[in-house]
Amino acid sequence: MTAQRTVLLVSLDDGLIEAARTAFGHAGDYRLVVCADGRTAASRLGQIEVHLLVADCQEAATGSAELLKGARVTHPQVPRLLIATAATADHGAEAALQSAAYLFLLKPVLPAQLGIAVKRALELNELSRRHRVLSRELRISMDDDIFGDTEKMSVKGGVSQFEKLVYASPRMAELTEHARQAAATDLPVLIHGETGTGKELLARAIHFNSRRMDAALLVQNCGGMSDETLHSELFGHVRGAFTGAISDRLGLFRAAEGGTVFLDEISEVSRNFQVSLLRFLQEGEVKPLGSDSVAYSDVRIVAASNRSLEEMVERGEFRRDLYYRLKGFTLLIPPLRDRPEDIPVLAEFFLEKYAGVVGRRVMGITRSVLELLARYRWPGNVRELETEVQRMVAVADHGGYISERHLSPTIRDLAATAGAPQAPAIEGANLKEMVENLERRVVRETLTRTRWNQSQAASELGLSRVGLANKIKRYNLQAE
Ligand SMILES: Nc1ncnc2c1ncn2[C@@H]1O[C@H](COP(=O)(O)OP(=O)(O)OP(=O)(O)O)[C@@H](O)[C@H]1O
Ligand SMILES: [Mg+2]
Repeated sequence: MTAQRTVLLVSLDDGLIEAARTAFGHAGDYRLVVCADGRTAASRLGQIEVHLLVADCQEAATGSAELLKGARVTHPQVPRLLIATAATADHGAEAALQSAAYLFLLKPVLPAQLGIAVKRALELNELSRRHRVLSRELRISMDDDIFGDTEKMSVKGGVSQFEKLVYASPRMAELTEHARQAAATDLPVLIHGETGTGKELLARAIHFNSRRMDAALLVQNCGGMSDETLHSELFGHVRGAFTGAISDRLGLFRAAEGGTVFLDEISEVSRNFQVSLLRFLQEGEVKPLGSDSVAYSDVRIVAASNRSLEEMVERGEFRRDLYYRLKGFTLLIPPLRDRPEDIPVLAEFFLEKYAGVVGRRVMGITRSVLELLARYRWPGNVRELETEVQRMVAVADHGGYISERHLSPTIRDLAATAGAPQAPAIEGANLKEMVENLERRVVRETLTRTRWNQSQAASELGLSRVGLANKIKRYNLQAE
């Protein structure tokens, strides 16, 4: 399921949409998302994980050509495919050139043609991804120096994504699996997690994996608001309901009809307002402020909190009945420090993101920096890591590596703290023995860390597989 590729098609042409459904709709390998215009598609690109963009530039008004040109900059790694008719061929060819499209096809396009083109585009994309990773690793192993700060830790394989959530840890894999199950239902979802752990990102991913994905997702932060304001935001009001209510207001619950409402900081709502929410969750009842009539709305609620609602219920601060209603599914996003596997993966992800934004080529992050990042407690979780990487990219040298001197002082100082694991002294009667002992230790540690995945260990160490096998033999190393 996670290996599914998403094809985003922008078209109004029933014939083409049908051809795409025939090509991708039935096989489990693909998810086909269809948008009617370039603007909707651009917003989807920002919300869900897309592997391939197919744009029909039949009608200039749909903005497909602009979308492709924009995507070339914002999502360079997503291959683009352009389709035109004989009548719009010139316009199409021009757009294909400007957006550096992988392929330009003329209608009518057969499902088989589309299938093959998409398959090839995805293969090419995977090849270029591997090429990027390998060239970087090659360069790293060439100037590798195990005594200096230039030693790099490679990050590859095992990276997964749930829409815009990036992770590698088993805990996040389990969590996203639950989230997918939750998405398939209409039950409310309650997301817990410290600040910056990705609660909103998860809420969005759930919406876009649910049957409601084509309807609205509206967000309401419930913190720091009077009951009256919150009521009017969510349930709406009629003109004159309170001073300043100069016209009717629909309210989020009705505006999101058929879609999802994300209630952030749900722990902050008053006991009084909790009653209104409960009624809504039970009956779908919407009663605007100042109105006697009741309307009904079908929305799915996803709520988030960084305080434990369960404990608040125990202390009598949150209504038990509402709590039970909300937790159709409960998803707890672990703090970043409890899923250290995600730290290097996210650091690398943000590095690519921000290096791309500022057009700065940064070769990578040194191993010692990654080790310090892994040791830091990240009270601000992923958001804090993202800011840290963004700042480091801004100050790193063009074509250089991010090294310890680019870290913010709090993290850099961890290197000197007493809690840091001390490397045991290197034993040996002379330099030759010491070097051998050190080499044995480094090889053994790398093998343990990679769970004896010899290809991975070899590439991390900048050795060939035979080279690594020789060292294993020479030092008589064995998997524990
Ligand atoms: N797993 C992840 N992959 C990529 N980006 C992430 C991930 N988790 C969080 N982020 C990024 O970190 C930032 C914070 O995420 P988000 O706003 O979803 O957190 P939150 O839990 O809602 O935080 P808060 O409690 O402070 O509202 C965002 O910029 C988001 O894109
Ligand atoms: Mg949030």
